[in-house]
Amino acid sequence: MRKLLLFGAICIGIYVAYEVQRIDVPAGFSKPGSLRIVKFIYGGINDLQNLCVSLGLVSFSDGKRFIFNALASTSDIFSRDRDWTDATWDNTKVRIYTNDKVEENGPAFVFIHGGGWVSGSPKSHHPVVQKLFNELQIFTVSLDYKMAPEHKYPGPEDDCEAAIVYLMKNAKIFKIDPKKIMVGGDSAGGHLSIQMAHRFVNRPDHLPSLRSIISIYPVTQPYSLSGPSYKVNENHHLLPTENMAKYWSLYMTGTFEWEEIFRKNLQTKCSYLKELHQSKILDFHFPNKYDYGKELSENEECEYSKEFWDQYGYLFQDDKFSILLKNFTNFPPTFLATMQYDVLRDDGLLVLRRLQKYGVKVEHYHDPKGFHVLLNLVDFCLENKQLIGSIVQFIKQHS
Ligand SMILES: *[C@@H]1O[C@H](CO)[C@@H](O)[C@H](O)[C@H]1NC(C)=O
Repeated sequence: MRKLLLFGAICIGIYVAYEVQRIDVPAGFSKPGSLRIVKFIYGGINDLQNLCVSLGLVSFSDGKRFIFNALASTSDIFSRDRDWTDATWDNTKVRIYTNDKVEENGPAFVFIHGGGWVSGSPKSHHPVVQKLFNELQIFTVSLDYKMAPEHKYPGPEDDCEAAIVYLMKNAKIFKIDPKKIMVGGDSAGGHLSIQMAHRFVNRPDHLPSLRSIISIYPVTQPYSLSGPSYKVNENHHLLPTENMAKYWSLYMTGTFEWEEIFRKNLQTKCSYLKELHQSKILDFHFPNKYDYGKELSENEECEYSKEFWDQYGYLFQDDKFSILLKNFTNFPPTFLATMQYDVLRDDGLLVLRRLQKYGVKVEHYHDPKGFHVLLNLVDFCLENKQLIGSIVQFIKQHS
């Protein structure tokens, strides 16, 4: 019996080693072996979760939250820094980072975590926020906004806005300057950061604009999940296309029902898609430096789901909902990060073009070896240090 177990363990070991070494990593990446293991674990968790979802054992959102929280608990246990306290501002839970070295009446940084508007928390993103706090020593708050599917669009946005308004109105108590509030986040948090900056331009209640924005590989558009970066990175371990389809369905509709529509790219009415292409809002021709070195077909036959469009198409045409349709006049200086190996790379490049069209001051950080989730791999690799270093520098210059 023991021999059989040993034999089994050796077989599994060989299989895992074989699978791990087969995983692609970007050429020149500083820690290829470790990244293969990270991708293997992420991919394995994702597969296991999909299995549990298809067996009806757990919902997609609960599964994702469970994983994020499990990872977060380990990070909380190992974290030595204790500069934070959890609080509730009106109805929004927040984690505040401050200590006696923070300058009085200085700037503040609001962090909005990623996780597809469905998962993640200040706990899951604690390592990166603590790292930024250590480097910056400015009053920092990480938002625990309510998420989809229970709170679909615009729930998460309203929550984040309420927290920022609370911070501005209580600036004296927190000893910060309400005119120097910067907002940033990753992925869905990068999306929410852009939405927040827009909500604070020329407000009727005369609250100040945000000082600057840090948007790390943001989600910016639901119109097409089949642009070049979506195609090339479709099965990426750290964010496969199918997960974005699930996130959009849950965020927009509060249900899983439309996941297949997004996965099959049937969400946008063909005539509207054509308009977006013609007006260059959705134009996937990027300069050579972003080339994947392959021909990627575009003008595919267009089909769409009339049922989806009749219910949700109005949001696609609404500049409150849609980032790419926004008028970015008076938008604050923005740090925008894109990663070559990321389905959301083109989402970033598309919004970059829009921001530049409106003359927004944008610092574009593109990592040709980067990928989704890189921000969270704190101190894991050189590429993470460079990204965090650039964010810190930008915040110091724009606070
Ligand atoms: C954007 O908004 C500004 C200021 O409100 C306005 O002057 C400008 O015409 C608008 N641009 C477009 C393209 O709508």
